[in-house]
Amino acid sequence: MTLAQGASRLIHCLFVCFTLIAAPMTALAADKVELSVDVSKAGAKIDRNIFGQFAEHLGHGIYDGIWVGPDSTIPNTRGIRNDVVAALRALKVPNVRWPGGCFADDYHWRNGIGQRAATLNPNWGGVIEPNAFGTHEFMDFIDQIGSNAYVSVNVGSGTPREAAEWLEYMTAAQPTTLAKERAANGHPAPYKVPYLGIGNESWDCGGNMSAEYYLSRLKIYSHFVRNFNPAQQQGSQQMLKIAVGPGGNEPRFTEWTETIMKAYQQHTWSWDFNGLSMHNYTVNWQHKLPSEGFGENEYAQSLKSTLEMDGLIAKHSAIMDKYDPEKKVALVVDEWGGWYAPLPGSNPAFLLQQNSLRDGILAALNVNIFARHADRVRGANIAQMINVLQAMILTDKEKMTVTPTYYVFKMYVPFQDATFVPVTFDAGTYTHGDISLPRVDAIAAKDTAGKLWLEITNVDPDQPVEIEASIAGVTAKSATGETLTAPKVDSVNTFDTPSAVAPKPISAKAQGGKVVLKLEPKSVTVVSIEQ
Ligand code: AHR
Repeated sequence: MTLAQGASRLIHCLFVCFTLIAAPMTALAADKVELSVDVSKAGAKIDRNIFGQFAEHLGHGIYDGIWVGPDSTIPNTRGIRNDVVAALRALKVPNVRWPGGCFADDYHWRNGIGQRAATLNPNWGGVIEPNAFGTHEFMDFIDQIGSNAYVSVNVGSGTPREAAEWLEYMTAAQPTTLAKERAANGHPAPYKVPYLGIGNESWDCGGNMSAEYYLSRLKIYSHFVRNFNPAQQQGSQQMLKIAVGPGGNEPRFTEWTETIMKAYQQHTWSWDFNGLSMHNYTVNWQHKLPSEGFGENEYAQSLKSTLEMDGLIAKHSAIMDKYDPEKKVALVVDEWGGWYAPLPGSNPAFLLQQNSLRDGILAALNVNIFARHADRVRGANIAQMINVLQAMILTDKEKMTVTPTYYVFKMYVPFQDATFVPVTFDAGTYTHGDISLPRVDAIAAKDTAGKLWLEITNVDPDQPVEIEASIAGVTAKSATGETLTAPKVDSVNTFDTPSAVAPKPISAKAQGGKVVLKLEPKSVTVVSIEQ
């Protein structure tokens, strides 16, 4: 840049830049972090499917959480809770993965249509599975919340024929015997199944298979399990098949991804898949951390562990790049989230935990990682939707509350299908004991209407941060949005105090200079930049 160009840029900046002062929030002096957003360098689309959910037949995830039955005194529509549906509609849930999880490889779909069979749920406490919530109820739920079905078929204890017949039952439009049975059960029109999971954790609860053995099963299932819905035969409407992928950082998972992706490179017309699943929980298996009543140690440990998601994605993406440089196969992180000790007094097999401000922050950090890998990560499903692990919603009989994680997902709705815009910044460091983490995280994106959105997470539990953002290529007038924080890292919503952790509005006026937002400690903030 010449001196004259530099001077002209400076003058230009004095005219078009501005300052946005957020509402005063705290008396503490804030450290400053400079962010540079460059809209001219827009990147990949942030696939809305990274905001997918997971609903397994586990504990009170389905029964009581979604399904109360048509005769319940809890307000419902055809047996599905109205309060839960209303809350979920606001999240614009792109897809729901069902019926598991480990449960999927024990699930026999015929038990859940017509006359229901009572079976057992050996994975999750050995309780009775009434099968009252089956295919039709799931599809009704999907319809009520305005989402899409991601159905996982049984590879572990089922057969290709069983899975093929389930798909024919759901999707055939022609009057086959199975399609007529579906009609007799109340749904003449074929259902849409946009996403098909071929097994779940087949290296573990899904059958303890070797990669080679699973691969041969995958080839059979991917050929014979067909979607017959006439509306799903062409282009982007075609059903996407998701193969079982890695489940953590162990060497066996590197080998697994190698085996499956190497085979993909040589796949023929007769078998195929479109996504590779990855599971990665934030968990200490030896000593599960509490989900409530914890302090800064556990906060820092959880966030340190959750940031390992980035390295894991990078590692498996690199293997995928080797065999699929055009990135045709999506990496689908279809189980992720914080996994903590079960709540005292609850059935440990039900994986019931509280959800604190920490988990809202943890969710934001993970979503930002997915967004930064948007070219490869085109799907993710947080585990799990209701009453299980890092849930959106907690219920107890007629009571319901949404969680801090729910609010983060709601705040991120504008990022669904938005175009990633790079942000550069020096994050600084938050240190607690021997743990050091980036103090600030941020992403930016342009939504489909062209509006610019900025997300900033202040990880530091004690110090506010002053964000000074320069946005090249945008003449901003104001910034408006929401910020989520609470008095403590372990603040939670309860049935008696459902709004203890809830977002507050944040807005700022253009004042000239740069965009300046003062963010509270331990907070997640999403603002749109009005031009
Ligand atoms: O989400 C709980 C369980 O975790 C799932 O059933 C399984 O796939 C994973 O191990």
